[in-house]
Amino acid sequence: MAGFVFVGPGRVGTGLALALSAAGYQVGGAVSRPNQSVTRSSNRFTELTHLPALQWMDARSLIEQADVVFLTVPDQAVTPVAQTLVDDGWLHRGQIVAHTSGAHSSALLQCVESVGAQKLSLHPLQTIADPAKAPLLFTGATFTAEGDEDAVTKAFEWVRALGGIPVRLRAEDKAKYHAAAVLASNAVLALMGVVDELAGLPNGWAAFLPLVEGALNNLRTLGPKEALTGPIERGDIVTVQKHLDVLRDNPTALLVYVALGRATVSLAAQKGSLSGAQRDALERLL
Ligand SMILES: NC(=O)c1ccc[n+]([C@@H]2O[C@H](COP(=O)([O-])OP(=O)(O)OC[C@H]3O[C@@H](n4cnc5c(N)ncnc54)[C@H](OP(=O)(O)O)[C@@H]3O)[C@@H](O)[C@H]2O)c1
Repeated sequence: MAGFVFVGPGRVGTGLALALSAAGYQVGGAVSRPNQSVTRSSNRFTELTHLPALQWMDARSLIEQADVVFLTVPDQAVTPVAQTLVDDGWLHRGQIVAHTSGAHSSALLQCVESVGAQKLSLHPLQTIADPAKAPLLFTGATFTAEGDEDAVTKAFEWVRALGGIPVRLRAEDKAKYHAAAVLASNAVLALMGVVDELAGLPNGWAAFLPLVEGALNNLRTLGPKEALTGPIERGDIVTVQKHLDVLRDNPTALLVYVALGRATVSLAAQKGSLSGAQRDALERLL
């Protein structure tokens, strides 16, 4: 058997292949997309993992021999790729077919049921920009799993072997969970883009890194409510009004400030740092 095989040797496919190999699992290699010759991502896969990355037309026996076929392709390609594997007769009973989308459930893999394969969605709650760093980044990361019961049980074993934290998620909760993941990751970077533009300091966003790191350290030790400081937490309506006045000529920054300001009022209210009058005034302002 070929153990794990990855269709889509991109960031997550390569990262998982590296991490699973390092944890002692057998990884057979990767497969490029159908109708595509060798790609940059397949070359990089082989460079990093020293495992083969085959073109689709050469991949039949690798996929037939796999215990687990991971479709680490863009979300919209998961179902068409799974359907092609079913139509070509490359999958069989006893295999697990998995995807790593955060927003979509294992229902994207419904078609593999027709050949008796099991379906799994396994999402690493981590951002992978450089697959070489993935094994380190997966340590301590939460992985959410959902799908056929035996496949989820096996996925929990893999995740523990990677040093991750396995968590079961219901299919219907995935979209909301993934929206939260996007806010925790991509939105933070977008926010730093706004910060950079707004402050106009010569050292740009980097000037704010110690502040961001300070807030993260407080979050780690105290949690969001107790870590919260700033004008809203102090009920300082005059300062918030001043901020809103200067943001009028930057509609994106104003929108971000108002949206996050409302969330801050709600957190400060939960913390109990605002009087009823201060909360009402801030809510009217924002
Ligand atoms: N990156 C992250 O931080 C992250 C984190 C958690 C989950 N995920 C999920 O992991 C999955 C893969 O994401 P990624 O960031 O690893 O993507 P990626 O780096 O862009 O890699 C995608 C891979 O799929 C191949 N591919 C593209 N279109 C295809 C198609 N139509 N049919 C077959 N293969 C195709 C690409 O090959 P080519 O080289 O030919 O383009 C590439 O090897 C997605 O479901 C994503 O939501 C990503």
